[in-house]
Amino acid sequence: MDPLAVTVLSLLAACLLILTAYLVNLAILSPLRNPLRQLPGPPSKWYMEWRHMALTMDPRRSPHTGAEFVAKYGRNVYIRGPVPWDQRLFTLDPVTMNHILQNTTTYEKPWPSRRLISGLIGQGMLSAEGQKHKRQRRIATPAFSMQAMRALIPLVFSKGTELQKKWMSMIQDAGTKPGEGHIVNVCSWTSRATFDVMGSAGFDYEFNAIQNEDNELLRAYVDMFEVAVSKQKGGLRTILVMYIPIIDKILPNKTTRFVARCQKVIERVAGKLIQEKKRKMDEAALKGEVYHGKDLLSLMLKSNSSVDLPPEQRISDADLLHNINTFMFAGTDTTSLGLTWTLYILALYPHVQNRLRAELLSVVPGTPVETLMPEEVQSLYAAIAELPFLENVIRETMRLIPPVHSSIREATRDDVVPVSTPLKRTGRDGRVVEENVDHVFVPKGTFIHVPIEGFNLDKGLWGETAWKFDPDRWNDLPEAIKTLPGLYQHTLTFSAGPRACIGMRMSVIEIKSFLFTLVTNFKFAPAPDQKIGKANVILTRPYVAGRQDEGSALPLLITPYVPEGAL
Ligand code: HEM
Ligand SMILES: *[C@@H]1O[C@H](CO)[C@@H](O)[C@H](O)[C@H]1NC(C)=O
Ligand SMILES: *[C@@H]1O[C@H](CO)[C@@H](O)[C@H](O)[C@H]1NC(C)=O
Ligand SMILES: *[C@@H]1O[C@H](CO)[C@@H](O)[C@H](O)[C@H]1NC(C)=O
Repeated sequence: MDPLAVTVLSLLAACLLILTAYLVNLAILSPLRNPLRQLPGPPSKWYMEWRHMALTMDPRRSPHTGAEFVAKYGRNVYIRGPVPWDQRLFTLDPVTMNHILQNTTTYEKPWPSRRLISGLIGQGMLSAEGQKHKRQRRIATPAFSMQAMRALIPLVFSKGTELQKKWMSMIQDAGTKPGEGHIVNVCSWTSRATFDVMGSAGFDYEFNAIQNEDNELLRAYVDMFEVAVSKQKGGLRTILVMYIPIIDKILPNKTTRFVARCQKVIERVAGKLIQEKKRKMDEAALKGEVYHGKDLLSLMLKSNSSVDLPPEQRISDADLLHNINTFMFAGTDTTSLGLTWTLYILALYPHVQNRLRAELLSVVPGTPVETLMPEEVQSLYAAIAELPFLENVIRETMRLIPPVHSSIREATRDDVVPVSTPLKRTGRDGRVVEENVDHVFVPKGTFIHVPIEGFNLDKGLWGETAWKFDPDRWNDLPEAIKTLPGLYQHTLTFSAGPRACIGMRMSVIEIKSFLFTLVTNFKFAPAPDQKIGKANVILTRPYVAGRQDEGSALPLLITPYVPEGAL
């Protein structure tokens, strides 16, 4: 044989050998040596464990999984991710969770989810890490201040009223007789309304989505999120692209080409909005005036131009666009699902609905909301915000069905995490033993499962009734709850720590004011013969049982509310 061929062949063989050794080590040996394995956990095969993901991510099973894990294995559990080298810590331990969520330099968002999100909406606050994230969050924080949020209230109310009028005309157009109901797919309408709110509140732009869904920019966002998120089928290519993103550039498929087209539209239209806003601000500055935009875009531009900001803390045009995209992505369907699940629960519990309506009616102004001056709308909201039962109902639905089901973190270095004692460990014989240790060693690269819903539904923390809907529990919480780390009312619904939700206040304003308008004008009941299920497609979405393929849907029977004695 030609000596050259021999050399090439042996080189190839050597490469193959090295690659095989690398893969065997990655997939089999190194997981076996992982110290995390000392933690107990559900049985697993050596190769891969999709089952663990189904147990912990599927909202139909996850509440039971959490309870079973705590009973069998304790609060810190070892589970396997979808690929063999993906080793995860599943924790329902508040002490551990607090350490992880507070310590954002050691625990970052894992690269696969960051890559996925950045590929879609760019590197905004949701997916940026380190200095880049700090810079963006610092610029955005004033835009989400209490004062800034208050300024948005009249706008939010006007969208609530618009939705109410739309539903009223739908009911009339359907030829419904007085006192009869009409079936409305609530989640699609609340989604249109929250897109409208985010358009005007976010960047002073009218999508007009409650009226029709034709707007070019709206379509680009809605279609892109749908194709890339809710219709995502996963599969081998998705995993491959995760590791080798260049594949998408070289061999785009239908989905990637579609997403690229949406991104072009967004860059063109939203990019123009940013430039127009800047021009308006410059024009005002030339005249010695200050431009008073209430929207997040104006406020972010304002904080970027603040004189006492050091140059290295300013953000670029691209950063700004990516954060506008991020608000659209993180702030619309989340809020719409919060509202949708609340209306669903009110439909299931008519006595709660009646009690809530009675409370809301007590602050209804003498004239229609759309005729009020902005200051009057502000004081109406101030009255609504103080209603105790409304507050309890929202806390309870946001606890029971958090729109974000769970999240993930990745340890960027070896760490020792604190745990509440006693900790269970797996002995050499495979038996679970209790030990009085106060820490777990977490090796670099470990993924931490953040069970948002799991914490909210934990019977060990919230008591035996944790899985029940009981708004009155908030009048008398167990003491242990008050030490939990969550940003919103001790729940993890809006996460916790420096990477917690920046839009929490905004979504509470939206949910409260929409509920006020809708519940004082309509009665809600379950649609006959339609069972509603839950699916976790990045967010916890409703669907009609047996018709999941048709996408998220929540049909409710809606009847105009007529006060007694008014007939
Ligand atoms: C009911 C409504 C909402 C819920 C349940 C919710 C929940 C969350 C959660 C759980 C996180 C943490 C994500 C993670 O760690 O993986 C988050 C982050 C975030 N949310 Fe929200 N959110 C809501 C509404 C909003 C709104 C209205 C906005 C407004 C623009 C918003 C903007 C953001 C942003 C920018 C982040 C990333 C923050 C960071 O990493 O610094 N969210 N949200
Ligand atoms: C985060 O963890 C690292 C390593 O354990 C530690 O040095 C640092 O003090 C922690 N920071 C916070 C805010 O807990
Ligand atoms: C196209 O490729 C992406 C990954 O790049 C994948 O997530 C998606 O499911 C694929 N779409 C189709 C229609 O195969
Ligand atoms: C933020 O300020 C810097 C410095 O003035 C400027 O170069 C940059 O373009 C500004 N960013 C935006 C989004 O306007």
